[in-house]
Amino acid sequence: MLALAGCFDHLLANGVRLRNRFHKEEMFGKAPRSGNFIQGRGPRFRLALELGRTNSRQNSLLQSNTTEVPLPATAAALTALSEAEAACTRCPLYRNATQVVPGEGAVRAKVMLVGEQPGDQEDLAGHPFVGPAGRVLDRAIADAGLDRKKMFVTNAVKHFKFEPRGKRRLHKKPNAYEIERCHWWIDQERAILKPKMIVALGATAARSLMGRPITISKVRGEALPLPDGTPIVVTIHPSYLLRIDDADRKEFEYRQFVTDLRACASAL
Ligand code: URA
Repeated sequence: MLALAGCFDHLLANGVRLRNRFHKEEMFGKAPRSGNFIQGRGPRFRLALELGRTNSRQNSLLQSNTTEVPLPATAAALTALSEAEAACTRCPLYRNATQVVPGEGAVRAKVMLVGEQPGDQEDLAGHPFVGPAGRVLDRAIADAGLDRKKMFVTNAVKHFKFEPRGKRRLHKKPNAYEIERCHWWIDQERAILKPKMIVALGATAARSLMGRPITISKVRGEALPLPDGTPIVVTIHPSYLLRIDDADRKEFEYRQFVTDLRACASAL
């Protein structure tokens, strides 16, 4: 039950040594040796977990392994997770980013909001959704009658991908490989928090969570079950609203976005 939290407590207690080991394992693709991730599960399970390729039966084991984790353990697990993320080399994006931007929010969050990747400001600040798209998101959350402080906000990809253009860094969409590699961290966040509902903000988040390319207009706004039963609502990414010039259209799309977010109210 407490295996995952126990692992992260252990990780915290042994900080640097374990971080180095984790780093090496990430680089060389080796499964954790001491079997801490999910105690009592075999090497195949741990390897699938390490590779982010757990099947639905393994996913439900992962979920049940973390039932009723006490609050301090959840907080410690999230802290340790963000330390582990800081050492991530699962894809090349860590090389150019300033830092990893871990998910953050309420330890008891019932709703997890998943964006695409940190932008320029998030990369510098080390926090998700603090730039222009974050301000739109904050307003929409408030207009939907929700409270961001009660949610957990994260990204499908945890490092900023960009193209240098003079002094500017232009956002570049993460590719399928980067999304797939980073999905491993979302699984860890979900295993720790066990959110009652997930909101995918845009196509990258939807692809990460649903494991395949998604056309937003086909699934938008309805709660769909993920393989473990957790409902997911897919909606637009708030940066889409920033790109609309026509004021009426912008307002219309914004209202739609707020309506989609209201679907979370049932989980709160
Ligand atoms: N866009 C995202 O998808 N995530 C952020 O954190 C910021 C902008």
